[in-house]
Amino acid sequence: MNNITIGIVGVGNVGSTLAFNLATSGLCKTILLKDIREDFIKAMSIDISQAAKASNNKTKIKACLCKDEFKNCNIVVITAGIARKPNMSREDLLLTNAKIIQNVFDEILEQNKEAIFIIVSNPLDAMVHVALEKSKLPRNRIFGMAGALDTSRFKYYIDQKLTNKYDNIEALVIGSHSNKMVPLINHVKIDGKKLTDILKEKDIEEILENTKNGGAKIVELLKTGSAYFAPAHCCFLMCKAIITNSKEVFATSTRLIKEYNYNNLTLGVPCILGKDGIEKIIELKLSKEETIDLKNSAKIVEESINLLQGLNNETNIWSTQCKMWWLCKYFD
Ligand code: 2OP
Repeated sequence: MNNITIGIVGVGNVGSTLAFNLATSGLCKTILLKDIREDFIKAMSIDISQAAKASNNKTKIKACLCKDEFKNCNIVVITAGIARKPNMSREDLLLTNAKIIQNVFDEILEQNKEAIFIIVSNPLDAMVHVALEKSKLPRNRIFGMAGALDTSRFKYYIDQKLTNKYDNIEALVIGSHSNKMVPLINHVKIDGKKLTDILKEKDIEEILENTKNGGAKIVELLKTGSAYFAPAHCCFLMCKAIITNSKEVFATSTRLIKEYNYNNLTLGVPCILGKDGIEKIIELKLSKEETIDLKNSAKIVEESINLLQGLNNETNIWSTQCKMWWLCKYFD
């Protein structure tokens, strides 16, 4: 067995399902769990260890109750933060989860300097931005899982319309993890054929609509939280690609520096994953319409980042004003 340690910060539904996937697959030697609910992660570590034992798996799962125990991870998956409730958008979580992500990095970065970080907390693209700013790590080592999930939903709705008749669906969703995501309909291949040659426009419209609302549909039905099996499994597949250095392509939220003509914006695009994290960002040739859709999708992330930066500036101005006030008092 390899010597890989995977840390999971935030052991809610996604975190615990990911731990279960990892432990029962034997993909890593150690799984470290970190969450504010101590008894809960103790319970998870025992329950998941016993699941692993059922198939004679040797993965060790440890609940980390103090800061020093969560260390030397090869990969850290961060799912910490609040989840959406019905009638909430992912953007409604922005300020609370930004603070949580910053606190997480304050606690874990020092002891996990060599790790690759996969962010899952929402609003996803803005949280990857926060993590990059806070950690100052290179972009190949901090990125977000969302495009893989949106793509799995896209494939699901395509398959439903095709009534399971075809074996091989190749599809991709790019852009922000929001209801303005960009499912690339013209790039879909069904057993080598173009989807637009198989389905009517009305069916395609329905697939697009359902894909964009795929997460919200589950939130609406669950009422108390959001999806977790598909998000956790997509994270598992991304961890697997890194550990096995498979060089598979996943739609991944990454900081675009000049790719797709964006300057320092975090957005979902196809990336090759391997032992160094993101090994290559793939630049697709987009049509005029797709380029416009991507721009509209990017606006959601830009607005979130602007809001966060505005608040930072306000905090800085406020703290400068406070400091000035104290200085004035002092020299009075
Ligand atoms: C979703 O789309 C939670 O963002 C996640 O289900």
